[in-house]
Amino acid sequence: MIESGKFKNIVFFTGAGMSAESGVPTYRGKGGIWHQYNWEDYACQTAFDRDPEKVLKFHELRRKAVLDCKPHAGHFVISELEKQHPGVFVVTQNIDGMHQRAGSQKVIELHGSLWRVRCPNHGISEDIGETFKNYKCEKCSSWLRPDIIWFEDMLNQEVIREAMAVISTCDLFISIGTSGVVYPAAGFPTIAKDNDANCIEINPEASPMSGMYDENIREGAGSALSKLFKLNALRRS
Ligand code: APR
Repeated sequence: MIESGKFKNIVFFTGAGMSAESGVPTYRGKGGIWHQYNWEDYACQTAFDRDPEKVLKFHELRRKAVLDCKPHAGHFVISELEKQHPGVFVVTQNIDGMHQRAGSQKVIELHGSLWRVRCPNHGISEDIGETFKNYKCEKCSSWLRPDIIWFEDMLNQEVIREAMAVISTCDLFISIGTSGVVYPAAGFPTIAKDNDANCIEINPEASPMSGMYDENIREGAGSALSKLFKLNALRRS
């Protein structure tokens, strides 16, 4: 069990495995999205330029799948901890907004969000719902693309800098449910280690990055987080 008060800054770094227990499919694990769909047809700018409607419809399927799911105990452990501890941050590769639905506020989304769209001329706007409000911008009729970092996209450097800043000053780094193979995720535990952070991996399976961690918890996200941070005590206080 962890006494959170002993740590100044705590970063929870989450991937698809964090949402898996809510019922959201992972990307590469068993039943993963990229086994069923070719990302070349649904998750890159080239696919969007070729057939925007097909890409938007695929993302509507994903929006519906996520809205059918709910945050689990692990999400609430993190959001409760944030209420009690000023140095709690989430850095997530997930685009599903599940942390925010559980009440987390300090969430850095590395790969964008399913709940925002982007017009090439008029910028980003929020769009929450099973279907997109509009496929085209009301002002200029450009296709609205999901504000997601797709394959072959550049990462948003401002967001990466923000994530690096919190990771490089944390003294507890907990990675949950990521295969750790996608840049920049692979470098994050190293950055945390450079600050002598205690690094913990929560993942039922070993990942290519497992050796980097001080502790590997081979368990699902919800039960592992509930044990680590005593959920009941947190909720009562
Ligand atoms: N609890 C914790 N971890 C779990 C659970 C669970 N209940 N179930 C599965 N996992 C682990 C798997 O063992 C796997 O290591 O979650 C990990 C999910 O890995 P990926 O599917 O590769 O997801 P992620 O690492 O988030 O992918 C990174 O790749 O496709 C892109 O942009 C997409 O954000 C995504 C990025």
